[in-house]
This record gives sequence, structure tokens and C-alpha cells, in this order.
Amino acid sequence: DASTIRTTAGYSFPRVRLRRLRRTESLRALVRETEISPQDLILPLFIREGTSVRNDIASMPGVRQQSVDLALSEIKTAWELGIRAILLFGIPDHKDEVGSQAYDEHGVVQVAVREIKDRLPEMIVITDVCLCEYTSHGHCGLIRDGDVQNDDSLELLARTALSHVRAGADIVAPSNMMDGTVLAIRELLDAEGFQHVPIMAYSAKYASCFYGPFREAAESAPAFGDRRSYQMDPANVREAIREVDMDVIEGADIVMVKPALAYLDVISKVKERFDLPVAAYNVSGEFAMVKAAAMNGWLDERRAVMEILTSIKRAGADMIISYHSLDVCRWLSG
Ligand code: PBG
Ligand code: ZN
Repeated sequence: DASTIRTTAGYSFPRVRLRRLRRTESLRALVRETEISPQDLILPLFIREGTSVRNDIASMPGVRQQSVDLALSEIKTAWELGIRAILLFGIPDHKDEVGSQAYDEHGVVQVAVREIKDRLPEMIVITDVCLCEYTSHGHCGLIRDGDVQNDDSLELLARTALSHVRAGADIVAPSNMMDGTVLAIRELLDAEGFQHVPIMAYSAKYASCFYGPFREAAESAPAFGDRRSYQMDPANVREAIREVDMDVIEGADIVMVKPALAYLDVISKVKERFDLPVAAYNVSGEFAMVKAAAMNGWLDERRAVMEILTSIKRAGADMIISYHSLDVCRWLSG
């Protein structure tokens, strides 16, 4: 009788047969728990100062640094494919000790945001808020006595965010991992009348080797040392919960886990513990690994990418930042 049916192997089979729902693609689709769609995806773009500039990035096939005039056509394509959000990184012509181009009203990102919002007002423009692309030393904050200064960096980071929002950014995304960065940005935005602009916080950002190709793309490798005094130790997950907790208290609207693939447990725990949207960053190294294997014929690129992105979403991500975004949308529509 029914009361004797248990989930132990002996009792469940043959009455329970899990293969019944896997027989055809229609059945599988009917019971599928996780699906990727274009509106889950955020496309990262590297915007270079100037016009008609286009530099391919060797370690990221299909990705390039480009000036905003050229980026616009890629953004238009993204919109037509169903992508509703982009994430901008700027590469300035001029770097200095204090990253002054990061918060310059006429900086590369500020100019790009104005241009993009002018042409495609409905596209959600998210801007990366950090100093590493703008500082001569390549660190994410100010340096004094060879150390990254936390509190002194906050004012400049907040000014950076404000300048992006003044240019029309829809969401700001601080990636610098300074303590208090979300609060500093929230307070300045609120004081300047931008209470409605959300913050997507890179809350649990690990000191990862998987950022390697990005640093080539963004020209942001640190000139000395590394980022381990501000980004998280890959060994820690409870600390990630504290990082997210802090950012939520400081006013984050969306929290991020980064990288994604090697940190699915972190995504899953953050999703369980917090009731706000979770973003995951499928970073440059994750992209490069798949591309390299696919180019060698060692992996089926399309299946590898879909499996990885589905896993990131299954782990709990509500949105995924990925360099594969355009390809995925083409596959989904084709
Ligand atoms: C810079 C930043 C990095 C990434 C996003 N913002 C690199 C770093 O911290 O060194 C990595 C993104 C990627 O690898 O795709 N703050
Ligand atoms: Zn940085």
C-alpha cells in the first residue's frame, strides 16, 4: 500500500521510474526547472576613449576594446536580440596616481553613457565603479606607503558613481571591494537627488586568477602586488555572507557573486539567505577556458556555454553577466 512507499531504492522501483519524464524533448521541456532567457543576461563592454578605435583581445576571442561610436552598433544588435542591460568598463587614454579620469565629467565612461542613453534610452546602462582602469598603479583604490587606502578611496569612488549617474547611468556597480563603498555611494547619490538609482554591489568578489583576460582587456593589472588585501580569499564562504550582509545594510539593491563557476556554492548560499536579487559574474577566465577548448575542438561550445549558464542560474543567480551573452541570444533565437 501507499504508506510503504519510501524513497529508498527497494520500495520506490518499479513503481517510481524517473525516466518516464525524460522520454521526449517535449516532456523534458515540460518539467524543466531552469531556463536561460535574454533578459537574464547582462553584456559587458570595454569602451576605449576616442573614435573608430577597435582592439581585439587575444585571450577573449570575439571581445574587443572599442570606442563608443563602434560599440553602439554592438549595443543595437544586443537590444535586437533581447538583451536589456549592458555593463560598461572604461579604458582612458590617460592614467594617473589618483585615477582622475574615473570621476571626470568628460571621462570615457561618462561620454559613452550619454551617447548610449541618447541613442537607446531603454537599454539599462550599468557602470563599473572602480579606479583600477584609471590609476597608473592599477589598484582599485588610492595608494599610500605601498598600501591601498580604504577610507580615502571612498570619496573618489562615490564621486565616480555620481558622475556616471549624472551622465545617465541607470545602475552603478561598485567592484572595488573597499569597506563602506556602498554606503558612501548611497549617501552621495541620495544627497544629490538620485535616491532612485539602484546599486549593484560586487559583494562577494574573490581574489581570482580567472580575471586574467579581463586585465588584458581593461589594461588594469596592478603594477605591483596583488588584490588579496581587498578581494576575498577563495577559501571562504561564511565571510561572503558577511560581505553581502554589510552591503545590504549599506543599501545595496542587487548583490553579486564573482566569479561564478567556481563559486556556485556561494551563489546558492547567498540566494538562500537574502531576499534580494542576486547577480553572478561569469568572468573573463571562465569565458576564455571555454573558447580555448572549443577552438581546439575539445568541447562543443554551445552546449558547454548553455550548461554553464544554466548551472549558474540553477545555483540561484537571477541575472548573469557574461561575455557569451550575444552568442546565447543567437542560439536561443535560432
Ligand atoms: C575591476 C574589475 C575586475 C573585473 C571586473 N571589475 C578585475 C579585477 O578585479 O582585477 C573582472 C571581470 C572579468 O574577469 O571578467 N575592479
Ligand atoms: Zn578595480
